Amino acid sequence: MLDQLNDLYSQALDELERVADRQALETWRVRYLGKKSSLTGVLRSLARLPLEERREAGARANQIKGSLESSLEEKEKLLQEAFLVSPGVSQRLDVTLPGRPLPVGGLHPVTQMLEEICGVFGNMGFQTIEGPDVEWDYYNFEALNIPQHHPARDRFATLWIDAGEGAKARLLRTHTSPMQIRLMEKERPPIRVVAPGRVYRYEATDAIHESMFYHVEGLAVDRNITLADLKGTLFEFCRCLFGEDRRVRFRCDYFPFVEPGVEVAVGCTACDGLGCRLCGHGGWLETAGAGMVHPDVLARVGIDPEVYSGFAFGVGVERIAMLRHGIDDIRLFYSNDLRFLRQF
Ligand code: DAH
Repeated sequence: MLDQLNDLYSQALDELERVADRQALETWRVRYLGKKSSLTGVLRSLARLPLEERREAGARANQIKGSLESSLEEKEKLLQEAFLVSPGVSQRLDVTLPGRPLPVGGLHPVTQMLEEICGVFGNMGFQTIEGPDVEWDYYNFEALNIPQHHPARDRFATLWIDAGEGAKARLLRTHTSPMQIRLMEKERPPIRVVAPGRVYRYEATDAIHESMFYHVEGLAVDRNITLADLKGTLFEFCRCLFGEDRRVRFRCDYFPFVEPGVEVAVGCTACDGLGCRLCGHGGWLETAGAGMVHPDVLARVGIDPEVYSGFAFGVGVERIAMLRHGIDDIRLFYSNDLRFLRQF
Protein backbone atom coordinates (compact mmCIF):
# COMPACT_ATOMS: atom_id res chain seq x y z
CA MET A 1 0.00 0.00 0.00
CA LEU A 2 2.82 2.39 0.89
CA ASP A 3 4.60 1.71 -2.37
CA GLN A 4 1.40 2.33 -4.26
CA LEU A 5 1.05 5.68 -2.48
CA ASN A 6 4.64 6.72 -3.15
CA ASP A 7 4.30 5.87 -6.83
CA LEU A 8 1.15 7.90 -7.03
CA TYR A 9 2.91 10.82 -5.36
CA SER A 10 5.90 10.91 -7.71
CA GLN A 11 3.64 10.44 -10.72
CA ALA A 12 1.51 13.41 -9.59
CA LEU A 13 4.56 15.64 -9.08
CA ASP A 14 5.96 14.67 -12.48
CA GLU A 15 2.77 15.53 -14.18
CA LEU A 16 2.38 18.80 -12.30
CA GLU A 17 5.82 19.78 -13.53
CA ARG A 18 4.53 19.54 -17.09
CA VAL A 19 1.32 21.47 -16.52
CA ALA A 20 1.53 24.72 -18.55
CA ASP A 21 -1.87 26.40 -18.31
CA ARG A 22 -4.86 26.78 -16.08
CA GLN A 23 -6.98 24.25 -17.86
CA ALA A 24 -4.31 21.54 -17.53
CA LEU A 25 -3.96 22.48 -13.87
CA GLU A 26 -7.68 21.92 -13.30
CA THR A 27 -7.50 18.50 -15.01
CA TRP A 28 -4.55 17.65 -12.79
CA ARG A 29 -6.44 18.72 -9.66
CA VAL A 30 -9.43 16.55 -10.53
CA ARG A 31 -7.22 13.57 -11.26
CA TYR A 32 -5.08 13.71 -8.09
CA LEU A 33 -7.12 15.57 -5.51
CA GLY A 34 -10.71 15.27 -6.75
CA LYS A 35 -13.43 13.14 -5.16
CA LYS A 36 -12.81 10.31 -7.63
CA SER A 37 -8.99 10.48 -7.51
CA SER A 38 -6.83 7.44 -6.71
CA LEU A 39 -5.70 9.19 -3.53
CA THR A 40 -9.25 9.56 -2.30
CA GLY A 41 -9.77 5.90 -3.26
CA VAL A 42 -6.82 4.88 -1.12
CA LEU A 43 -8.04 6.93 1.82
CA ARG A 44 -11.45 5.29 1.54
CA SER A 45 -10.04 1.76 1.36
CA LEU A 46 -7.97 2.27 4.53
CA ALA A 47 -10.84 1.00 6.64
CA ARG A 48 -10.32 -2.48 5.28
CA LEU A 49 -6.64 -2.67 6.35
CA PRO A 50 -5.34 -4.19 9.60
CA LEU A 51 -4.77 -1.58 12.33
CA GLU A 52 -0.93 -1.29 12.09
CA GLU A 53 -0.89 -0.93 8.33
CA ARG A 54 -3.88 1.42 8.42
CA ARG A 55 -2.07 3.82 10.72
CA GLU A 56 1.06 3.95 8.61
CA ALA A 57 -0.70 4.20 5.25
CA GLY A 58 -3.23 6.71 6.59
CA ALA A 59 -0.51 9.01 7.85
CA ARG A 60 1.40 8.79 4.56
CA ALA A 61 -1.74 9.35 2.47
CA ASN A 62 -2.63 12.49 4.46
CA GLN A 63 0.92 13.75 4.15
CA ILE A 64 0.83 13.26 0.40
CA LYS A 65 -2.52 14.97 0.15
CA GLY A 66 -1.25 18.04 2.05
CA SER A 67 1.91 18.20 -0.02
CA LEU A 68 0.00 17.94 -3.31
CA GLU A 69 -2.36 20.68 -2.18
CA SER A 70 0.47 23.13 -1.46
CA SER A 71 2.19 22.22 -4.75
CA LEU A 72 -1.07 23.01 -6.50
CA GLU A 73 -1.23 26.42 -4.83
CA GLU A 74 2.34 27.24 -5.81
CA LYS A 75 1.75 26.21 -9.37
CA GLU A 76 -1.33 28.41 -9.49
CA LYS A 77 0.74 31.41 -8.42
CA LEU A 78 3.44 30.67 -10.96
CA LEU A 79 0.90 30.41 -13.76
CA GLN A 80 -0.70 33.69 -12.71
CA GLU A 81 2.63 35.53 -12.74
CA ALA A 82 3.61 34.01 -16.06
CA PHE A 83 0.24 35.09 -17.45
CA LEU A 84 0.72 38.73 -16.46
CA VAL A 85 4.16 39.04 -18.04
CA SER A 86 3.33 36.99 -21.12
CA PRO A 87 3.79 39.14 -24.25
CA GLY A 88 0.13 39.05 -25.31
CA VAL A 89 -1.07 40.34 -21.97
CA SER A 90 1.69 42.83 -21.26
CA GLN A 91 0.92 44.49 -24.57
CA ARG A 92 -2.71 44.94 -23.58
CA LEU A 93 -1.97 45.93 -19.99
CA ASP A 94 -0.02 49.18 -19.87
CA VAL A 95 0.61 49.76 -16.17
CA THR A 96 2.01 53.23 -16.91
CA LEU A 97 -1.37 54.54 -18.12
CA PRO A 98 -2.89 57.20 -15.82
CA GLY A 99 -5.98 56.10 -13.87
CA ARG A 100 -9.44 56.65 -15.30
CA PRO A 101 -10.88 59.89 -13.90
CA LEU A 102 -13.96 59.42 -11.71
CA PRO A 103 -16.95 61.52 -12.73
CA VAL A 104 -17.18 64.41 -10.28
CA GLY A 105 -20.22 66.58 -9.59
CA GLY A 106 -20.14 70.35 -9.16
CA LEU A 107 -21.92 72.99 -7.16
CA HIS A 108 -25.21 74.22 -8.59
CA PRO A 109 -24.86 77.68 -10.21
CA VAL A 110 -27.23 79.15 -7.63
CA THR A 111 -25.19 77.65 -4.78
CA GLN A 112 -22.03 79.11 -6.31
CA MET A 113 -23.75 82.49 -6.56
CA LEU A 114 -24.95 82.32 -2.94
CA GLU A 115 -21.43 81.56 -1.76
CA GLU A 116 -20.02 84.42 -3.78
CA ILE A 117 -22.63 86.92 -2.56
CA CYS A 118 -22.18 85.96 1.10
CA GLY A 119 -18.41 86.08 0.53
CA VAL A 120 -18.54 89.67 -0.78
CA PHE A 121 -20.63 90.80 2.21
CA GLY A 122 -18.44 88.69 4.50
CA ASN A 123 -15.45 90.74 3.36
CA MET A 124 -17.36 93.87 4.40
CA GLY A 125 -17.88 92.45 7.91
CA PHE A 126 -21.33 90.84 7.56
CA GLN A 127 -21.94 87.52 9.32
CA THR A 128 -24.09 84.83 7.68
CA ILE A 129 -27.14 83.50 9.52
CA GLU A 130 -29.96 81.15 8.53
CA GLY A 131 -33.57 80.61 9.56
CA PRO A 132 -36.69 78.56 8.85
CA ASP A 133 -38.49 78.30 5.50
CA VAL A 134 -41.80 77.72 7.30
CA GLU A 135 -42.52 81.00 9.01
CA TRP A 136 -45.13 82.61 11.27
CA ASP A 137 -47.33 85.35 9.83
CA TYR A 138 -45.90 87.51 12.65
CA TYR A 139 -42.31 87.41 11.36
CA ASN A 140 -43.12 87.38 7.64
CA PHE A 141 -45.64 90.26 7.81
CA GLU A 142 -46.82 91.67 11.13
CA ALA A 143 -43.46 92.57 12.68
CA LEU A 144 -42.41 94.10 9.35
CA ASN A 145 -45.23 96.65 9.46
CA ILE A 146 -47.54 94.60 7.26
CA PRO A 147 -50.60 93.92 9.47
CA GLN A 148 -53.65 91.89 8.38
CA HIS A 149 -55.43 93.45 5.39
CA HIS A 150 -52.51 95.78 4.62
CA PRO A 151 -52.44 96.29 0.85
CA ALA A 152 -48.71 95.42 0.77
CA ARG A 153 -49.71 91.80 1.37
CA ASP A 154 -50.93 91.73 -2.24
CA ARG A 155 -47.33 92.16 -3.28
CA PHE A 156 -46.57 88.72 -1.87
CA ALA A 157 -48.65 85.89 -3.33
CA THR A 158 -48.39 83.70 -0.25
CA LEU A 159 -48.38 79.93 0.11
CA TRP A 160 -50.16 79.26 3.39
CA ILE A 161 -49.38 76.21 5.52
CA ASP A 162 -52.34 76.70 7.84
CA ALA A 163 -54.60 79.67 8.13
CA GLY A 164 -54.41 79.93 11.94
CA GLU A 165 -55.55 83.04 13.77
CA GLY A 166 -53.82 86.23 12.57
CA ALA A 167 -50.16 86.34 13.54
CA LYS A 168 -50.28 82.62 14.45
CA ALA A 169 -50.93 81.52 10.88
CA ARG A 170 -48.06 79.67 9.23
CA LEU A 171 -46.76 80.12 5.70
CA LEU A 172 -43.80 79.49 3.46
CA ARG A 173 -41.77 82.68 3.85
CA THR A 174 -42.23 85.03 0.92
CA HIS A 175 -38.93 86.81 1.58
CA THR A 176 -35.96 86.51 3.94
CA SER A 177 -36.83 89.79 5.68
CA PRO A 178 -38.34 87.90 8.69
CA MET A 179 -34.72 87.09 9.58
CA GLN A 180 -34.25 90.79 10.44
CA ILE A 181 -36.81 90.42 13.23
CA ARG A 182 -35.58 87.01 14.40
CA LEU A 183 -32.07 88.40 14.72
CA MET A 184 -32.95 91.73 16.35
CA GLU A 185 -35.06 89.91 18.96
CA LYS A 186 -31.86 88.24 20.16
CA GLU A 187 -28.99 90.59 19.35
CA ARG A 188 -28.27 94.22 20.19
CA PRO A 189 -26.42 96.64 17.85
CA PRO A 190 -23.89 96.81 16.34
CA ILE A 191 -25.46 94.32 13.88
CA ARG A 192 -24.17 93.33 10.45
CA VAL A 193 -25.67 90.16 9.04
CA VAL A 194 -26.71 88.53 5.79
CA ALA A 195 -29.34 85.78 5.72
CA PRO A 196 -29.43 83.64 2.57
CA GLY A 197 -32.33 81.27 1.97
CA ARG A 198 -35.21 79.95 -0.09
CA VAL A 199 -38.37 81.99 -0.50
CA TYR A 200 -41.71 80.99 -2.01
CA ARG A 201 -44.44 82.68 -4.00
CA TYR A 202 -47.79 81.39 -5.20
CA GLU A 203 -47.19 82.54 -8.74
CA ALA A 204 -47.24 81.30 -12.30
CA THR A 205 -43.72 80.86 -13.59
CA ASP A 206 -42.26 82.62 -16.60
CA ALA A 207 -38.81 83.64 -17.83
CA ILE A 208 -38.14 85.83 -14.78
CA HIS A 209 -40.48 84.36 -12.13
CA GLU A 210 -40.24 81.09 -10.20
CA SER A 211 -42.40 79.88 -7.33
CA MET A 212 -39.29 79.03 -5.32
CA PHE A 213 -36.11 81.07 -5.49
CA TYR A 214 -33.38 82.53 -3.29
CA HIS A 215 -32.99 85.80 -1.45
CA VAL A 216 -30.10 87.12 0.56
CA GLU A 217 -31.31 89.51 3.24
CA GLY A 218 -28.92 92.05 4.68
CA LEU A 219 -29.17 94.10 7.87
CA ALA A 220 -26.90 96.65 9.51
CA VAL A 221 -27.93 98.46 12.70
CA ASP A 222 -25.72 100.81 14.65
CA ARG A 223 -25.45 104.43 15.73
CA ASN A 224 -25.32 106.97 12.88
CA ILE A 225 -26.07 104.64 9.99
CA THR A 226 -27.35 106.64 7.01
CA LEU A 227 -28.70 106.12 3.52
CA ALA A 228 -25.19 106.92 2.25
CA ASP A 229 -23.92 103.78 4.03
CA LEU A 230 -26.60 101.72 2.32
CA LYS A 231 -25.77 103.18 -1.07
CA GLY A 232 -22.03 102.73 -0.58
CA THR A 233 -22.48 99.12 0.54
CA LEU A 234 -24.72 98.12 -2.37
CA PHE A 235 -22.68 99.97 -4.99
CA GLU A 236 -19.55 98.24 -3.74
CA PHE A 237 -21.43 94.92 -3.85
CA CYS A 238 -22.41 95.53 -7.49
CA ARG A 239 -18.87 96.52 -8.38
CA CYS A 240 -17.50 93.30 -6.86
CA LEU A 241 -19.98 91.17 -8.79
CA PHE A 242 -20.26 92.98 -12.12
CA GLY A 243 -17.07 95.00 -12.39
CA GLU A 244 -16.31 98.72 -12.30
CA ASP A 245 -18.12 99.64 -15.51
CA ARG A 246 -21.56 98.12 -15.00
CA ARG A 247 -24.21 100.78 -14.47
CA VAL A 248 -26.18 100.63 -11.19
CA ARG A 249 -29.42 102.52 -10.59
CA PHE A 250 -31.02 103.62 -7.28
CA ARG A 251 -34.67 104.65 -7.35
CA CYS A 252 -37.36 105.31 -4.77
CA ASP A 253 -39.59 102.38 -3.94
CA TYR A 254 -41.99 101.50 -1.17
CA PHE A 255 -41.65 98.67 1.37
CA PRO A 256 -43.58 99.02 4.65
CA PHE A 257 -40.60 98.00 6.78
CA VAL A 258 -38.23 100.70 5.53
CA GLU A 259 -38.35 104.47 5.20
CA PRO A 260 -37.17 105.60 2.74
CA GLY A 261 -37.20 102.54 0.50
CA VAL A 262 -35.19 102.06 -2.65
CA GLU A 263 -34.96 99.74 -5.59
CA VAL A 264 -31.58 98.75 -7.00
CA ALA A 265 -31.27 97.83 -10.65
CA VAL A 266 -28.27 96.84 -12.74
CA GLY A 267 -27.79 97.57 -16.43
CA CYS A 268 -28.68 94.42 -18.38
CA THR A 269 -25.58 92.40 -19.19
CA ALA A 270 -27.24 90.45 -22.00
CA CYS A 271 -28.11 93.48 -24.18
CA ASP A 272 -26.01 96.20 -22.50
CA GLY A 273 -29.10 98.26 -21.80
CA LEU A 274 -30.60 98.07 -25.27
CA GLY A 275 -33.52 95.89 -24.20
CA CYS A 276 -33.97 92.13 -24.46
CA ARG A 277 -35.96 89.23 -23.00
CA LEU A 278 -33.81 89.09 -19.85
CA CYS A 279 -34.52 92.72 -18.86
CA GLY A 280 -38.10 92.72 -20.17
CA HIS A 281 -36.88 95.13 -22.89
CA GLY A 282 -36.25 97.88 -20.32
CA GLY A 283 -32.45 97.70 -20.29
CA TRP A 284 -32.36 97.31 -16.46
CA LEU A 285 -32.84 94.34 -14.18
CA GLU A 286 -34.08 94.89 -10.64
CA THR A 287 -31.77 93.00 -8.31
CA ALA A 288 -32.54 94.26 -4.80
CA GLY A 289 -35.01 96.10 -2.64
CA ALA A 290 -33.56 98.10 0.22
CA GLY A 291 -34.04 100.99 2.59
CA MET A 292 -33.54 102.46 6.04
CA VAL A 293 -35.10 100.22 8.70
CA HIS A 294 -38.43 101.75 9.77
CA PRO A 295 -38.34 103.21 13.32
CA ASP A 296 -41.46 101.20 14.23
CA VAL A 297 -39.68 97.95 13.29
CA LEU A 298 -36.74 98.84 15.54
CA ALA A 299 -39.04 99.85 18.39
CA ARG A 300 -41.02 96.60 18.13
CA VAL A 301 -37.90 94.56 18.91
CA GLY A 302 -36.81 96.89 21.69
CA ILE A 303 -34.11 98.85 19.87
CA ASP A 304 -34.43 102.60 20.51
CA PRO A 305 -34.87 104.35 17.13
CA GLU A 306 -33.77 107.62 18.73
CA VAL A 307 -30.33 106.12 19.35
CA TYR A 308 -29.92 103.58 16.57
CA SER A 309 -30.63 103.46 12.86
CA GLY A 310 -30.05 100.81 10.27
CA PHE A 311 -30.35 99.78 6.67
CA ALA A 312 -31.69 96.57 5.16
CA PHE A 313 -31.70 95.03 1.73
CA GLY A 314 -32.98 91.92 -0.02
CA VAL A 315 -31.08 90.57 -3.03
CA GLY A 316 -32.59 88.21 -5.63
CA VAL A 317 -29.96 85.52 -6.14
CA GLU A 318 -31.17 84.00 -9.43
CA ARG A 319 -31.48 87.49 -10.91
CA ILE A 320 -27.83 88.11 -10.14
CA ALA A 321 -26.78 84.73 -11.54
CA MET A 322 -28.78 85.50 -14.71
CA LEU A 323 -27.07 88.85 -15.12
CA ARG A 324 -23.71 87.33 -14.40
CA HIS A 325 -24.00 84.53 -16.95
CA GLY A 326 -26.41 86.09 -19.45
CA ILE A 327 -29.13 83.50 -18.74
CA ASP A 328 -32.50 84.65 -20.05
CA ASP A 329 -34.82 82.15 -18.35
CA ILE A 330 -34.93 81.57 -14.59
CA ARG A 331 -36.65 78.19 -15.06
CA LEU A 332 -33.40 76.72 -16.39
CA PHE A 333 -31.99 76.68 -12.85
CA TYR A 334 -34.55 74.22 -11.55
CA SER A 335 -35.33 72.04 -14.55
CA ASN A 336 -32.33 69.77 -13.80
CA ASP A 337 -31.09 69.71 -17.38
CA LEU A 338 -27.48 68.51 -17.02
CA ARG A 339 -26.50 70.13 -20.32
CA PHE A 340 -27.30 73.47 -18.68
CA LEU A 341 -25.88 72.71 -15.23
CA ARG A 342 -22.57 71.30 -16.52
CA GLN A 343 -21.67 74.72 -17.96
CA PHE A 344 -20.95 76.17 -14.51
N1 DAH B 1 -38.28 91.59 1.07
C1 DAH B 1 -38.44 92.44 -0.09
C2 DAH B 1 -39.08 91.67 -1.24
O1 DAH B 1 -39.18 90.49 -1.17
C3 DAH B 1 -37.10 92.96 -0.53
C4 DAH B 1 -36.60 93.94 0.44
C5 DAH B 1 -36.93 95.28 0.28
C6 DAH B 1 -35.81 93.56 1.50
C7 DAH B 1 -36.47 96.20 1.16
C8 DAH B 1 -35.36 94.48 2.40
C9 DAH B 1 -35.69 95.83 2.22
O2 DAH B 1 -34.58 94.18 3.44
O3 DAH B 1 -35.21 96.74 3.09
O4 DAH B 1 -39.52 92.24 -2.18
